[in-house]
Amino acid sequence: MTPTTQKALGLPGEGHPFTLLDAWPVPTPGPDEVLVKIMSSALNPGDWKLQDYGVSVIGGTYPYIGGFDGAGVVEEIGSQVKNIAKGDNIMFTFGVNEPEKGSYQQYRVVSADNAAKMPDNITFDQAASVPTCLATVATGIWAHEPGASSVDFPAPWEEGGLTKFKDQAALIIGGSSSVGQYAIQLAKLQGFSPIVTTSSLKHADYLKSLGATHVIDRSLSPEAIAAEIQKLGRPIVYAYDAIADKTTQNLAYDVVAPGGSLVVADFRSQPILAEKLERDGGSKKVGYPFSGLSWPGNKKLGVELFARLEDWLRTGVVVPNRIEVLLGGLNAVPGGLDRLKSNQVSGVKLVVHPQETA
Ligand SMILES: NC(=O)c1ccc[n+]([C@@H]2O[C@H](COP(=O)([O-])OP(=O)(O)OC[C@H]3O[C@@H](n4cnc5c(N)ncnc54)[C@H](OP(=O)(O)O)[C@@H]3O)[C@@H](O)[C@H]2O)c1
Repeated sequence: MTPTTQKALGLPGEGHPFTLLDAWPVPTPGPDEVLVKIMSSALNPGDWKLQDYGVSVIGGTYPYIGGFDGAGVVEEIGSQVKNIAKGDNIMFTFGVNEPEKGSYQQYRVVSADNAAKMPDNITFDQAASVPTCLATVATGIWAHEPGASSVDFPAPWEEGGLTKFKDQAALIIGGSSSVGQYAIQLAKLQGFSPIVTTSSLKHADYLKSLGATHVIDRSLSPEAIAAEIQKLGRPIVYAYDAIADKTTQNLAYDVVAPGGSLVVADFRSQPILAEKLERDGGSKKVGYPFSGLSWPGNKKLGVELFARLEDWLRTGVVVPNRIEVLLGGLNAVPGGLDRLKSNQVSGVKLVVHPQETA
């Protein structure tokens, strides 16, 4: 039987550290929602960023339950839910302006639009790695609704989505990051080739297995990376910057050919390229995605994407990130976020098991 209270990890107020809440209420699903028992929650850099910068950047309020995506078992469904049933294993991402719906808790409600059934060839931990980082790529390239900040490529289920970019060159900055791994895979799905990525070379074979054709050592100078890209002799039609610092944004922008498109994973970094964009008069399109699928500009895309996710994972169109499980349940999250913040996580997605919280 579902308990009425649970353990959750939240930010009690601005400037506070993540704190374990021992008797947080277990919510009740609304008509379009499901209640899920969370088996695995993924850690994202966005969690430490919200702790440092304040949750108002995504319209949140305190107390704020952290965590974006996860996977678990459906305990209850709302009266209008059609795509998911009680007992299903699902993966899910976060809602916008819904601070109580974070994944750092043992039970949460999820909008049925932001959830997909898990295929049986992946684990809860693998499933938890997918929704937010995949959405960070998808919303940057396929969201078309007003309010979206995407470069407006046709999605694979739309006309031209599998053909328009066939054999055109793409660059993924930071291929070994969680977001970068999905950016490589979606570029492959769209037919881009070659797909060049920057990464530590220890990840080269893995990134090639995901679809990268060339891996450039990310420790080279930006000039040396640009020179390596130039050696391909192909215009870069599309770049995805999954790292989004000043250096990588400038590099990505500079190597994209006139008329090409760049997506920068961190929407707070918009001013960095402002001068260049103004100088170039918009000859290069730049998108700044927000992974929240209940955001008005992303809503339609979110439904289309999640309707295909189970099949894409079953058939290997999308492969989940490699995983490192942190022991200690929700109590392990702060240490994991410290590692993410200090760049101590390389080529894996950190996850915790909320049910194991002491
Ligand atoms: N807009 C949104 O809604 C949204 C949503 C999710 C994430 N994000 C943002 O997307 C970014 C990536 O998140 P993530 O979860 O994918 O990060 P992550 O997996 O924690 O990234 C770590 C990886 O980045 C690589 N890396 C670090 N600096 C690099 C550089 N200069 N060049 C190439 N690779 C580099 C590291 O490679 P090595 O270990 O090999 O050095 C490591 O494998 C973050 O800024 C995050 O905040 C945005």
